[in-house]
Amino acid sequence: AERRLRGRLHRTPVLSSRRLDSLAGRRLLFKCELFQRTGSFKIRGALNAVRSLVEASERAGAGLPRAVVTHSSGNHGQALACAAQEEGIPAYIVVPRTAPRCKQDAIRAYGATLVPCEPSDQVRDGETGQERSPAARRDSRLHASPQSRAETATRVVLETGGVMVHPNQDPAVIAGQGTIALEVLEQAPEVNAVVVPVGGGGMIAGIAVAIKALRPDVKVFAAEPRNADDCYQSKVRGELTPNPHPPDTIADAVKTSIGPNTWPIIRDLVDDVLTVSEEEIKRATRLVWERMKLLIEPTAGVGVAAVLSEQFQAVPRDVENVCVVLCGGNVDLSSLTWLTDLPGKAE
Ligand SMILES: Cc1ncc(COP(=O)(O)O)c(C=O)c1O
Repeated sequence: AERRLRGRLHRTPVLSSRRLDSLAGRRLLFKCELFQRTGSFKIRGALNAVRSLVEASERAGAGLPRAVVTHSSGNHGQALACAAQEEGIPAYIVVPRTAPRCKQDAIRAYGATLVPCEPSDQVRDGETGQERSPAARRDSRLHASPQSRAETATRVVLETGGVMVHPNQDPAVIAGQGTIALEVLEQAPEVNAVVVPVGGGGMIAGIAVAIKALRPDVKVFAAEPRNADDCYQSKVRGELTPNPHPPDTIADAVKTSIGPNTWPIIRDLVDDVLTVSEEEIKRATRLVWERMKLLIEPTAGVGVAAVLSEQFQAVPRDVENVCVVLCGGNVDLSSLTWLTDLPGKAE
């Protein structure tokens, strides 16, 4: 994956903040994937998958793949659209009819075809036993029922002759995400631990494989919202335990559960899972905006919240230099209420 992606993506910087160091009581190294092309690390996996398909076609003496298909209205949808456009391959992205316009526009801007599917009617207030905020209620519209998404994607694959690129279970996607770790080890060889937000687990699986192969002394910690703690539950029970309901969290990119390909890697190579509350995520996100001036999305705040948590204090003191992956910066600005009061657009 490293060879395939070389020269095609940004080498994102590792930044630090004395204020955050003092709050955490350790040296924090922030790997800034919010500056990555498409605004998140997701382009690493998507481009590796698309390049792998192109290379396989070339080896077989065939033409370009007919199309690539996925069902993600979030960062993977954008990343796959971008990667496919770069390689001159059509992309079809299955998106719930009710997904926010800004996300649909971002995918369309990379030349992909949006295929609408039915939104979910499964998320109901009170399901998590918590009061749902207006933002969370708005956010729940993002979810398509899994059947609707999967069925629509399967139909599109059949109709277009395209190849499905799963957002987090595809081995080429996992390998691409692992290149984050290779860069961190070069940029900050003093690192003792890496903290990675986990959704479907593609990013942490790729990172864990690379880290444990090259520097098994470096710890790998998963960070999860407590409201979407399938990774934690799976580790505790020793078996894959998906979230029972669509979770309610501001960290919208990690609502997905880990899956059959990422679970064994997580089970064997991830040292521990840290869970954080919604309030901790919001506070950590605001802290990074205020102190570091980095426009991270709340999902990236999950990792920051984890290193600032009481639970992290129990990690031995010799884990001195901790890398937190700031995985993305695609903030839905319409979720900032003071901004939504302003008429018109910024440009
Ligand atoms: C910004 C961001 N962070 C973290 C994740 C979680 O990655 P994974 O599903 O590979 O665990 C995603 C997935 O969409 C994401 O977009």
